[in-house]
Amino acid sequence: MMKKECLEIVEKKCQSCKSCALGATRTNLVFSDGNPETARIVLIGEAPGETEDLEGKPFVGRAGQLLDEFLAEAGISRQDDLYVINTVKCRPPENRVPTDLEKACCSKFLKAQIDIIKPQAIVLCGATALKSFVELDKKTTISKVRGQWMTISVDGVDYRAITIFHPSYLLRNHSMEEGSPRRLMQQDLAEIKNQILSDRSWMNNSQPQMAGV
Ligand code: URA
Repeated sequence: MMKKECLEIVEKKCQSCKSCALGATRTNLVFSDGNPETARIVLIGEAPGETEDLEGKPFVGRAGQLLDEFLAEAGISRQDDLYVINTVKCRPPENRVPTDLEKACCSKFLKAQIDIIKPQAIVLCGATALKSFVELDKKTTISKVRGQWMTISVDGVDYRAITIFHPSYLLRNHSMEEGSPRRLMQQDLAEIKNQILSDRSWMNNSQPQMAGV
C-alpha cells in the first residue's frame, strides 16, 4: 500500500474522532499538507488557526504565509520535501493553546502520521510541538534549544529532530539583525536543507576511485 493510502485510512478515523471536545466546534479537520511519497521531513506545528480551520489545511494563514516565504528562501519545497502537520488536528476555540488532554487525544494520529512517513528528520515548529516529545524544565526556552539536532523516539523508533521558531513569533519580531529570531530562522532552515535535503551520497558512489593514481 502507498503511504497516501495508509494516511487516508488514518485521516478517516481522525475525521470521526470524538475523543476530545474540539471535533464538535471545528469547521474542518486539518490533517496534513504535502506529498507523503516524496517528503523527507515532517514539520509539526501547534494547532489549526481560523484560516486553517476554514480551508482544512495546515499553515495557510498569516503565519503559514510567512513560513512559506522562509522555506522558499531556503530552497525547501513545501509540496515535495515536507509533510506538514499539527500536534492537534482540530482548531481550539479562540486559538488558545491546546490542553494536555487535547494533545493526548490527538497523539495517536500524530504518531501514526510519523510512522507512515518515516521521515529522515522531524522539524518541531514552536513550543507545543517540542513539548509533545521532550520534557522541558521551566527555564528552557525555544531560543535556547532551537537549531540543535537531537534524537526523539516515536513509538520506539528514533528520529533526528530539530526545533525552529514558530512563524507566529516571527510575525511579532521583524528585526533582521544578526542574531534576531528571523535571522536564526534563516540559519536553521539552511541547516535543515544542508543536512537533510542536500544529499551528496551519490558523489561518493559515482566518483571514480583515484587511489593509486
Ligand atoms: N499555527 C500552527 O501551529 N499551525 C497551523 O496550521 C497554523 C498556525
